[in-house]
Amino acid sequence: MKHTEWIAILDYGSQVTQLIARRIREQKVYCEIIRFDTPAEEIAKRAPKGIILSGGPCSVPDDDSPKCDPALFDLDIPILGICYGMQLTAHTLGGAVEPGLKREYGKATMQITGESPLFQGLEKELQVWMSHGDKVEAMPEGFEAVAESDNCPFAAIQNLDRNLFGLQFHPEVVHTPQGAAMLGNFAFNICDCSGDWKMSQFIEENIAAIRAKVGDDHVLLGLSGGVDSSVVAALLHKALGDQLHCVYVDNGLMRYKETEEIEKLFGDAFGIDLTVARDGDLFINKLAGVSDPEKKRKIIGGLFIDVFADKARLFAGKVKYLAQGTLYPDVIESVSPIGGPSATIKSHHNVGGLPEDLQFDLIEPLRELFKDEVREVGRELGLPSYVVDRQPFPGPGLAVRIIGDITPERIEVLQQADLRVREEIMKMENHLDVWQYFAVLLPIQTVGVMGDDRTYENVVAVRAVESRDGMTADWYKLPYDVMDSISNRIINEVKGVNRVCYDISSKPPSTIEWE
Ligand code: XMP
Repeated sequence: MKHTEWIAILDYGSQVTQLIARRIREQKVYCEIIRFDTPAEEIAKRAPKGIILSGGPCSVPDDDSPKCDPALFDLDIPILGICYGMQLTAHTLGGAVEPGLKREYGKATMQITGESPLFQGLEKELQVWMSHGDKVEAMPEGFEAVAESDNCPFAAIQNLDRNLFGLQFHPEVVHTPQGAAMLGNFAFNICDCSGDWKMSQFIEENIAAIRAKVGDDHVLLGLSGGVDSSVVAALLHKALGDQLHCVYVDNGLMRYKETEEIEKLFGDAFGIDLTVARDGDLFINKLAGVSDPEKKRKIIGGLFIDVFADKARLFAGKVKYLAQGTLYPDVIESVSPIGGPSATIKSHHNVGGLPEDLQFDLIEPLRELFKDEVREVGRELGLPSYVVDRQPFPGPGLAVRIIGDITPERIEVLQQADLRVREEIMKMENHLDVWQYFAVLLPIQTVGVMGDDRTYENVVAVRAVESRDGMTADWYKLPYDVMDSISNRIINEVKGVNRVCYDISSKPPSTIEWE
């Protein structure tokens, strides 16, 4: 897609390159992470307002370390090198980069010693985050140092005549509290950006691009009800109307009334052509007697493909494109010089391995967006909060929350318990701070007492966690009164449960799901 104003970020493999993009986009300036060795000519054609060279784990003086096209520095476009990017700038322009005697890692105090548009409006002494072994020993001609730390005489360098800048520390991480302001200074003071990138504009541009690409053809989308596929559905529907066809597979392991909600919203309210495959029995029959978590996952994954393929075949002659909710973080891996799954490989494989006779071209309208931006698009397109702010839900659904055998009765017990967990937590004002919350049905029964009678019923565990990305998680400190109402409601209202426990384990060493 064409954006009139943008900043190019060349990726040298730092784990925090994505954060540079986040910080720039937070200033309402569009940016893209591109390959570290993109030719200067190609970059010039797309005319970015500025270029950022990211950090990276390699050593610039090594022959095989990733380098940029040296002609970048002659494009007359402002360049900011961060950490490895600064060393690369120095190395390319005739300075000297040497292995540091000791690795500098962690917080450092930096003194600003010169005038720089990068530091406009900032204090003279700042906390910054360092993470480097090598360092610049001699600056290239025409450069001056404008900041220093105890271990680093060249914490920030610049050549104002040529609009070239280098920072030895990482402005993109939270441990550099003024870092976002520095990146803002780069975008506005140095690159002269206006900061007018708006989601509504993105949507309009995206819709025009989708129409231009798809023309009169038709598009198929596997709608799961999760945030990404829901937003793709709303966006494609706005762009293509009845040229969009959605297939939703009900595997019988969805949350309470989830399928009905999806039909109501996408089928009725949006008027999308929605095919619902109600194949719960198929899944549940195949799962009978299976309690091994990996076997459950394999059975469900395999059947999902079969059912989706069957429905997709109905559209085979008519549909040219398959839509996917690929997000920017999935794409970025491919431009890094350091391994990682490549987006090209992903794009050439069809969704979850569809059979050979169902090879569609891919359309991925969210591939330029981060998750929170996807939510913003969803809101703009009129999706309700319960969809846009929906918590993650595993592909195998409730199957991985029913420990032991899966039966229709046990699914029903869990759906009812889960509904009460969700209803009670959603009453909390700050419920969006809880990353994920659900019930788990355990394969044990315990003794209880109901009136004068002894009961021998199921145990439900409640899980609520806070997390940023699901990779690590902390158990959420739910207020006692919320725990109390969850427990009371489950035990009083859900037949077959007489005990509720709260899971107080963090990830690692536990996982979020129980299976
Ligand atoms: P774990 O249990 O590995 O879960 O700590 C991390 C996050 O991933 C979700 N999850 C899945 N999502 N398909 C998915 O789309 C799956 O098979 C799957 N398994 C786990 C889980 O809900 C949590 O958010």
